Amino acid sequence: MSQANGSTVGIIGAGTMGAGIAQVASIGGWNVRLMDVDSAKCKSAIEEVGRRLNRLVEKERLTREQADAAADRIVIAHDPDQLESCELVIEAIIEDLSAKVKVLGDVTTALSEHAIFATNTSSLSVTAIGEQIGRPTRTVGMHFFNPAPVLPLVEIIAGRQSDASVVDRVVEIARQWNKSPVRAADTPGFIVNRVARPFYLEAWRILADGLAGVDEIDRILKQFGEFRMGPFELTDLIGQDVNAATTASVWKQLGQSPRLKPSPIQEQLVEEGNLGRKTGRGAYIYEQDEPAPAIEVERRPFVAPDRLLEAVEQFIEKAGPNRGSDLEQYIFARVLIAIINEAAWAKAEGVASADDINTAMKLGTNYPKGPLEWARQIGHPRCTRLLDQLREQADDDRFVAPDMLAASTT
Ligand SMILES: NC(=O)c1ccc[n+]([C@@H]2O[C@H](COP(=O)([O-])OP(=O)(O)OC[C@H]3O[C@@H](n4cnc5c(N)ncnc54)[C@H](O)[C@@H]3O)[C@@H](O)[C@H]2O)c1
Repeated sequence: MSQANGSTVGIIGAGTMGAGIAQVASIGGWNVRLMDVDSAKCKSAIEEVGRRLNRLVEKERLTREQADAAADRIVIAHDPDQLESCELVIEAIIEDLSAKVKVLGDVTTALSEHAIFATNTSSLSVTAIGEQIGRPTRTVGMHFFNPAPVLPLVEIIAGRQSDASVVDRVVEIARQWNKSPVRAADTPGFIVNRVARPFYLEAWRILADGLAGVDEIDRILKQFGEFRMGPFELTDLIGQDVNAATTASVWKQLGQSPRLKPSPIQEQLVEEGNLGRKTGRGAYIYEQDEPAPAIEVERRPFVAPDRLLEAVEQFIEKAGPNRGSDLEQYIFARVLIAIINEAAWAKAEGVASADDINTAMKLGTNYPKGPLEWARQIGHPRCTRLLDQLREQADDDRFVAPDMLAASTT
């Protein structure tokens, strides 16, 4: 818990993310001015933050005095003039470009020319927002993860015209708020929402290939990759609709790369309204204590040429401690190399440094290792050999590696 430092942040949008960011900033010692089109939202956000601060006192993570001081630092702003003293304004309203431009545009005149504008967008262009509000050099992305008070990662996104000093200052502020910032370029999905896609998509493809059921694929990835959750239980938790929409958005914006192509099976689930835990059915059915697989798989025998099995074996030898059947090893290797390849592409395209990609995936998605750390551990020749063998079998170009794969893994 930081001491009050006299700095003030304006937060526009008092929903899930805005309330979470208000809590983070106030515990970090900042004054918060909270604004929403619906002032009842501000009131309920402040009440919710108060309850969460009380829980932190019960858990002895804050003293009573610290919690009360943090709560007192959050006040409602009823109009843009009340944001006058803000060094930074973060918008966390609905994911709509024109709405975001309107709210940020409306507050520009109330603020000093040195104020910084941040957007918590997950999918829109930070550059476009900065340009359209007429403050391109002073606008950045500050992408928190949900729940913001719990998850340490914040992706700090530089728009094409953002001043380096503005980006550095926002990185510093995120650290003051006890967060772990990483830097990312203004590209679709930034780091996490892009590099995580193959974890889901390759699993859906393995299902479509009839090689294993959802429960088997989930088990294999948890057992061999030490992922906390499998892709199907995780997409059921996120919501199949939310996960599919992110995939579709990143895929379209990145030129419809075969690596990011949406899954027809997942799209069908969404069309049927089987969205996961929130509807009681998704990849699993949630009627009993133990979720049961909801998707019938037309099983096909696993047939693979010896040279592919050898490439898998060599990859697996270095990828982790667990050994299994040829099929289990193949499923884990296929998903992991797809994630590594996406991370290598992101690095090659200048989205972020290898270190920031690794940190983002460990903190943003709870991966046990960063994908490029994994690649380094396995070694470039084994990664390339597996990609070559998978590319020979695949009916598209998704296992094509960037030239930079070598540079990322050596
Ligand atoms: N929820 C997540 O998991 C998550 C994670 C990272 C980023 N984001 C992004 O954060 C943003 C907010 O998401 P959320 O989940 O908190 O949404 P939410 O629906 O919980 O909250 C949005 C809030 O914005 C308010 N609002 C809408 N239009 C407004 C306007 N014109 N002026 C002022 N307030 C307005 C609404 O009244 C509401 O209180 C979105 O851009 C979203 O993509 C969400």
